[in-house]
Amino acid sequence: VRQKQTETMLHQQVLEKAHSFYLSQLRSGAQAIAYLKQRGLSGQTAKRFGLGWSGTKRQGLKEVFANYEESLLVESGLVIESEDGRRYDRFRERIMFPIFNAKGKLIGFGGRIIGKGEPKYLNSPETPVFSKGQELYGLWENRQGIRAEGFVLVVEGYMDVVGLSQQGMDNAVATLGTATTPQHIQKLIRASDRIIFSFDGDNAGKKAAWRALQTCLPLLRDDVSIRFLFLPAEHDPDSYIREFGADAFREKVQESMALSSFMLQTLAERYPLNEAEGRAACLHEARPLITQIPESGIKTQIGHDFAKLVSLTSEELIKDLAFYQEETA
Ligand code: CTP
Ligand code: MN
Ligand code: MN
Ligand code: MN
Ligand code: MN
Repeated sequence: VRQKQTETMLHQQVLEKAHSFYLSQLRSGAQAIAYLKQRGLSGQTAKRFGLGWSGTKRQGLKEVFANYEESLLVESGLVIESEDGRRYDRFRERIMFPIFNAKGKLIGFGGRIIGKGEPKYLNSPETPVFSKGQELYGLWENRQGIRAEGFVLVVEGYMDVVGLSQQGMDNAVATLGTATTPQHIQKLIRASDRIIFSFDGDNAGKKAAWRALQTCLPLLRDDVSIRFLFLPAEHDPDSYIREFGADAFREKVQESMALSSFMLQTLAERYPLNEAEGRAACLHEARPLITQIPESGIKTQIGHDFAKLVSLTSEELIKDLAFYQEETA
């Protein structure tokens, strides 16, 4: 335990030192400042999220780490060692987004390239202090806003969290380029009893919403509300709020879809429900979804509405699901 704590502390120190470097680089980084301005961000917002700039040098971090050969720099993901043993900074020519855990400890970075290069976003690798499937970007910075608004918005990207805040919505968090995990949902439920997913309007975003719904099912409870907000195909939350403003975005929140409606509508759209075969196929897809929901009012309600959709009584559906569960047990 002692050793683990020391390791965690050392990682944190290294990350914090790098963060102050990225902050100082931004102060003198005219091109990075211009980029942030061009994206509509104020200095105040940049400061609120601790945004930085990596600089453009291959070994920029040499300026702050006396011993660039230290193994901790590679372990923390700040420095990459190539096969021939040469070292260089992982993050170059990138706007730096520090990632804090729920206790406010710095655990990693995301970096967005400001020019053309690839990939557009780069994250810290998995380290002893950073695992992507656990963390939500913005949860620390927006902890008060989430409480004040009474709901948490779940978005795809760093820029969505920061861009929403720029327009006065300080209650978004982002998964870090990964699918929503059960651990994410548990953290979200701890943060608020109203969760609204707001992914990009493109097809990838719609697919991510359906996957998030499936991940939610085993965690549904009657005292937590989960909804889905859908944006026009060409928008993400950042671009939408920047173009149409906070009031328009709040209207989208008002129009958001309950998880149950999203689930039933999606299932209904996929099958010709005017035919017995279509209703059977729909039932086939729905069985493993509905049976994942813990016994609860919401399970009963969804079951009731779904039964109607496929022309069954609730009792017939319950019997069908019990039979299915025995088969697959
Ligand atoms: N992401 C990633 N790696 C990529 C692309 C995206 O990890 N190559 C993650 C990042 O966390 C990013 C999020 O997915 O913030 C959303 O990606 P995307 O929608 O593609 O970002 P854009 O909205 O296109 O980014 P921007 O607004 O900065 O142009
Ligand atoms: Mn996208
Ligand atoms: Mn409660
Ligand atoms: Mn975007
Ligand atoms: Mn996007």
